[in-house]
Parts: sequence; C-alpha cells; structure tokens
Amino acid sequence: MQMSVAQFGNGVNAAMFAVPDQLANLPPLSPAALKLLNLSSESDVELKRYVQIIEADPLLTAEVLQLANSPLFGFATNVHVLGHAITLIGPERIKTLAVTAAMKAYTGGGRSPAMRVSWKHSLACALLCREIAPFFKLSEDRCYTVGLMHDIGRLGLIKSFSQKYDQILAPEYVHSDEVIRVESTMLGIDHCQAGFWLTRTWGFPAGFSEVSARHHDKMSETNSELLQAVQVGCRLADCLGFAVVKWNQGLSCEEILSHVPRLPVEAPQWSREALREKITEKIQSTAGY
Ligand SMILES: [Fe+2]
Ligand SMILES: [Fe+2]
Repeated sequence: MQMSVAQFGNGVNAAMFAVPDQLANLPPLSPAALKLLNLSSESDVELKRYVQIIEADPLLTAEVLQLANSPLFGFATNVHVLGHAITLIGPERIKTLAVTAAMKAYTGGGRSPAMRVSWKHSLACALLCREIAPFFKLSEDRCYTVGLMHDIGRLGLIKSFSQKYDQILAPEYVHSDEVIRVESTMLGIDHCQAGFWLTRTWGFPAGFSEVSARHHDKMSETNSELLQAVQVGCRLADCLGFAVVKWNQGLSCEEILSHVPRLPVEAPQWSREALREKITEKIQSTAGY
C-alpha cells in the first residue's frame, strides 16, 4: 500500500489515506492528452506543438479527427487533417477533443455496465458544464474538460475493482456521503480520494485535483467558481437521468439550481426536457448508447 496525503477532504475523509496497489498500478491516461492539458492556454504557444503532440499518438489522432467530425462537437466543416483541425477549431477546443478521445479510450468506450454509466455521466457532466460555464463567467472549453474528468477517481476504482464496484452500485442511496462511505469501507479509498491521487500523480493541472476531490462537497460560495460549476454539472447530470448511482429520491433541476449560492450571471431558464434531449443526442453520437 502506498500512502498519500489528501489536502482536500469531503467531510467524510481523513486527511491521510492509503492508495491500494490496484489503483497505484493503473496505467495513466494518454500521456499526449496530459501534455496538451499542461500546455499554456495563451495563444503564444505555437500550433505546431499541438500537432506534434497529438500526431505522436496515431490512435489519438484518428479519434480526434473522428470526434471533430461528430455531432458531439458539431463543426460546420469536415476536417481530415490535424493541422487544419487545429487552425479551424483552435487549440483550446483541440484540448477538449483530445481529452474526450483519451477518456473514451481509457474507459474502453464503457466495457462493463458500471463503466458505461460512469462514462455516460462524465460526458453528460462535461456537456452540462459547457452550458453552465457562461453563468459563472468561465471558459466553456475549460469547464467541459474539467467536468469530463471530475469522476476520474470513480473510473479508476471501476478499472481496479470491477466486481466490488458492481456491488457498490447495486443498492439505492439517498446521499452521496453514503456512497463515499461504502467505497471507503469496501475498497479502502473513496472515488474523491482516488481522483485526487490520480490527477496529482499523473500530473494534471491543479484545478483538476481540486474538482476531482471536492465535487461532492456541500455547495458554497467559498468554493472556486470552477468547482461550483462542476458541482452543478454533476448534480444536473444526475437529475436529467445520467446518474451512476441509483438515487432513492433525487433532487429536481430547480432544487439543484436553488442550492447554487451565487451566479455571477442570472440563473438559466432551461427546459429540462430540451436539455435532456440535447445531451442524450450528443452522448449517443459519441458513446453509441
Ligand atoms: Fe463523483
Ligand atoms: Fe458526478
């Protein structure tokens, strides 16, 4: 067992936790995607560098081009050459494509039922984060990417403990604290701790670790705006039917939005059905289910 220090508690966790070998030995997410995430988002980074990093991974290149032409991203022109895609789409959007491709490969497109619902939830959260970002005055692309990665700890635990995680997902729960406690009891680590550890160990930029560790915390205006946006995205994904856990009594979208302490821009007036339809369509085009 490796020991790691958690700086972000979720009210249930101790500050120190042990990292099971199964998790510690997981292969990292695509090194190319991680390199891209760590590239400056300023425009002074040469586009060439993006092309070099993606092209070094042929599978990632193919997946990025396929996603660029899919309804998930919905660009007006078809793109077949990476350099053209990057010029057309811009480096920030390319990061979102590369991370989506890397995550899709990481989850195997959702091989087990647990992985399938988790991947679907992650995609729904990412797409909702893109919708929510303007209300927090955040970059849509950054919000999408962090939303996509928020449950990386859960994906890591499913990969590490597939059968035990199926047992964890079998019952109904009332509150996320319960799920976290059951993960801790059965696996010795919960998915927030796992996400914190994985994102730190793999070298993700700082915001990713905070969100992975704290997205189930109580919503508070002292939380960073990025964390608040992902907290809303994760909860809305659940209420729109993209939950990983079976909730005994889920919150309505209106209740979720009423828990947001403060939105810099006036709260959105969404039609729940229209939003669900939009997200479902995009997920089907990507995940195929
Ligand atoms: Fe979570
Ligand atoms: Fe979530």
